[in-house]
Amino acid sequence: MKGLADRKIVVTGGASGIGLATVRLLQSEGAAVAIIDRDTESAEAVGVPWVEGDFAESHGWRQAVVNAADLLGGVDGLVNNAAAIAGATAPLAEQNLDDFGATLAMNGAGVLGATQAAADLMTGAGSVVNIASLQGTNASPMLYQYGTAKAAIIHLTKSMALELAPRHIRVNAVAPAMTLTPAVKNGLSPERQAASIAAIPLGYAGEPEDIAGTIGFLLSDLARFITGQLIIADGGLSLTTARPHRGEIA
Ligand SMILES: NC(=O)c1ccc[n+]([C@@H]2O[C@H](COP(=O)([O-])OP(=O)(O)OC[C@H]3O[C@@H](n4cnc5c(N)ncnc54)[C@H](O)[C@@H]3O)[C@@H](O)[C@H]2O)c1
Repeated sequence: MKGLADRKIVVTGGASGIGLATVRLLQSEGAAVAIIDRDTESAEAVGVPWVEGDFAESHGWRQAVVNAADLLGGVDGLVNNAAAIAGATAPLAEQNLDDFGATLAMNGAGVLGATQAAADLMTGAGSVVNIASLQGTNASPMLYQYGTAKAAIIHLTKSMALELAPRHIRVNAVAPAMTLTPAVKNGLSPERQAASIAAIPLGYAGEPEDIAGTIGFLLSDLARFITGQLIIADGGLSLTTARPHRGEIA
């Protein structure tokens, strides 16, 4: 992909799933990559420079990005990907306001803080890609916290894109649906997975590499005129209401 060679790119949550597939794609394109993850064992196994960081712990985000950029000798790109999919589900009456605040802080403030730190360090054109979800644009039963957090990420993407455009730092978001990562394979019963896949017009779930390809495109110079946008990678799921919708999480 045009313009990824020698770029210095930090991927949060890079030790598994979509983040790991992104690391592998960027490596194959000649980029230098560092990851931030709370799972230190898996991070070490990836074989690229890494920093321990838990985005659930407030205010560690900025320093984690600074440390990761130090390992690379700078930063041109950031992928804000770290999150636990779906999270707490509960009906309205049982929503816990403390949990709600914590989920928003981890996702919204995490993306904001990490991007603040990366933008401070970017000396030329840069690219930030935020991983949202179809749940940020569409509602599913009981996914109040995850859905609101992903919607916040989509709005932050637009606000940050506008402010950073004069510095030629582009900010975009990707909304995956049902992607067969460890989080989905280990977290959803085979029946739930099959039901979700049956609702996808293309007839198959995404692979982590499919989402990584979209992220890589947005990081690359191929996307140099695109900023503030949400790219939906969902096999057509969002095109139609003619599908079973209950219980989908991704
Ligand atoms: N898989 C899907 O179907 C799907 C759909 C829509 C959106 N997403 C989004 O894609 C992103 C990646 O999900 P995935 O499916 O690859 O999950 P995954 O569990 O396979 O990988 C997530 C990685 O992020 C790390 N991580 C999680 N919480 C963290 C935290 N608080 N601090 C630091 N690191 C943390 C994990 O250790 C792991 O390495 C998430 O933002 C998720 O919401 C996934």
